[in-house]
Amino acid sequence: MTPAFRPEHPDIDAAMWGQIDDIIAQNRSIAGSVIAVLRKCQDVVGYLPVELMEYVATGMNLSRSDVFGVASFYALFSFEPKGRHTVKVCTGTACYVKGIKEVIARISNEFDIEEGGTSEDRRFSLEGVRCLGACGLAPVMVVGSDTHGAVSSDKVVSILKKYE
Ligand code: FES
Repeated sequence: MTPAFRPEHPDIDAAMWGQIDDIIAQNRSIAGSVIAVLRKCQDVVGYLPVELMEYVATGMNLSRSDVFGVASFYALFSFEPKGRHTVKVCTGTACYVKGIKEVIARISNEFDIEEGGTSEDRRFSLEGVRCLGACGLAPVMVVGSDTHGAVSSDKVVSILKKYE
């Protein structure tokens, strides 16, 4: 049964709860489907708040620790809200040598965001990643699906301002 009680959550509206109920209903009887359910729920909400994982556990007739255990095992799940745009900055050797550190510092200052974090207005999430495979373009930054090469601490702000 889908839980009758829907918890209040500022990031989950009624339409989202409806989609979540459908996801649970479609998968409840499928053994081992909790990963797929969590992934789909994350697609709906953008991340996995604790209340949502508890709701999934009840709906799937699983223990809370089963669901939390699965969710924390896989890197694809996020427990924090993500920004509308994910900014990946390459911290690989070529990018490091070409000044990615200054680029990261500029992003942090300008948008008040730490590496690994999300800005308060949820505009950007900032992630440091190992070689993005475009070393010839170093230093490299990827915003969503857009690759930006030869990024400098001067240019980076005007690039990011295009992403609302
Ligand atoms: S080191 Fe940055 S793309 Fe390879």
